[in-house]
Amino acid sequence: RLTRHYKFNIQMQNVTRLCQTKSIVTVNGKFPGPRIIAREGDRLVIKVVNHVQYNVTIHWHGIKQLRSGWADGPAYITQCPIQTGQTFLYNFTVTGQRGTLWWHAHSSWLRSTVYGPIVILPKRHDPYPFPRPLKEVPIILGEWWKADTETVINQAMQAGLAPNNSDAYTINGLPGPLYNCSAKDTFKLKVKPGKTYLLRLINAALNDELFFSIANHTLTVVEADAVYTKPLKTNIVLITPGQTTNVLLKTKHKTPNANFVIAARPYATGPATFDNTTTTGLLEYEKNTLSNAKAKNKKLLLLRPVLPKFNDTVFAMNFNQKIRSLNSAKFPAKVPKTVDKLFFFTVGLGIAQCSKNQPCQGPNNTRVAAAVNNVSFVMPNTALLQAHFFNKSKGVYTTDFPANPPVKFNYTGNPPSNIMVKFGTKVVVLPYNTSVELVLQDTSIIGAESHPLHLHGFNFFIVGQGNGNFDPKKDPAKFNLVDPAERNTAGVPSGGWVAIRFLADNPGVWFMHCHLEVHTSWGLKMAWIVQDGKRRNQKLPPPPSDLPKC
Ligand code: C2O
Ligand code: CU
Repeated sequence: RLTRHYKFNIQMQNVTRLCQTKSIVTVNGKFPGPRIIAREGDRLVIKVVNHVQYNVTIHWHGIKQLRSGWADGPAYITQCPIQTGQTFLYNFTVTGQRGTLWWHAHSSWLRSTVYGPIVILPKRHDPYPFPRPLKEVPIILGEWWKADTETVINQAMQAGLAPNNSDAYTINGLPGPLYNCSAKDTFKLKVKPGKTYLLRLINAALNDELFFSIANHTLTVVEADAVYTKPLKTNIVLITPGQTTNVLLKTKHKTPNANFVIAARPYATGPATFDNTTTTGLLEYEKNTLSNAKAKNKKLLLLRPVLPKFNDTVFAMNFNQKIRSLNSAKFPAKVPKTVDKLFFFTVGLGIAQCSKNQPCQGPNNTRVAAAVNNVSFVMPNTALLQAHFFNKSKGVYTTDFPANPPVKFNYTGNPPSNIMVKFGTKVVVLPYNTSVELVLQDTSIIGAESHPLHLHGFNFFIVGQGNGNFDPKKDPAKFNLVDPAERNTAGVPSGGWVAIRFLADNPGVWFMHCHLEVHTSWGLKMAWIVQDGKRRNQKLPPPPSDLPKC
């Protein structure tokens, strides 16, 4: 077991994309940011120094943070932000996980440029449960705005309007040739014939689920959210913001007469008001045809993949249902078989009555807000975890987050009566080791959109998913308690539901939110407080001395 040290200088950097240069927030001047590598069981110590004018925190997305909740990172949930000139040491151990995760800023919209991969290798001498790859390549999908993203979101929130769409999607920070003057900014993957490559896919986009494909090549999914899966062969991968997916790429036996386009573009179920463009990269075989005598007169073909239609909900449901835990003797799926507490959360957009300092764009003093069980979460002024740990919850949060929506949810296509949402900073309190079952029901009353729900501090098992209204009488009988996908982010389908189970064995305060940043900004978020257990190793230790103050 090693301790690995990293230093993250948060600093501005000029970056040119789409023929325009802008100054962006970066880690160490890099975009995308540096790769973190660790082995399962290692300790990571990352010193973050903030040199920019914004408040910053870093979140280690998918790291379970077992009894190290102070290092989780979401601003005002587990810590106050690191202010200009301040330093904070993130210190945690990577326990019981191996695969691809990622890190990103977790305050306002800074994660638009502040993100990078986390590669967790298995313990030494522990082989992968799949053919050993020749090379491993992180592929981070992102979004690029020509404008400054903090300005984009601040203006939108001020005006009570939807923020502007991004101007491009990117692969490892590069938009590719389908965008204006971006041919030189193209991601290229050079490969040898007859070999296996491990692609570590990460969706770091702010507001879009993405399809990913490589022309004329089959991909085999072997891991999702740092959990091994049953091998799944597919031409197309669907990946929501927050999720990571490892795929094996087996190259052709002989060097082909072609280059192959790598492409990603959105999956979206709402009205097509998003940026429906495609980011592309190239898969190039080394020593291509031109050096091959027989092919001398031939031209190099450029082959493009075929992606599903932007709103192909059938593909999405099928793909998500096919992802299964490996569930081998060595990597068993530890699905909670019994349930202590049952929750039913509706997730979606609603209408809120504006208060004095909130702008209204709707009639009768209303505005659009996003909510869980009709509660639109308001960020506190101090971190929830500090308030909880030091017993100072008064005026910070209340513990009355509803276990069910205020009006029974039964959407039939007619707008139901429970469209109004209320603002509040409410949490659910769970005793240590509570086995939780949570049904997430997408409302799709305003805007038929799916929501990638992300839970901090845990992996959960997706024991069921379906279209339409969840049926508490029939659906639980069909739950998969054997080999369900184990993830930290689940795409709740538009007008459908997802049922998850997790064991609340990690004391702390854990954020849960939609990983579409615009929905988070509108309030689609909440927090769970997991109490300490009785034993020493079931308690959250006190905070580090350099924990930032608000
Ligand atoms: Cu990837 Cu709360 O975030
Ligand atoms: Cu959402």
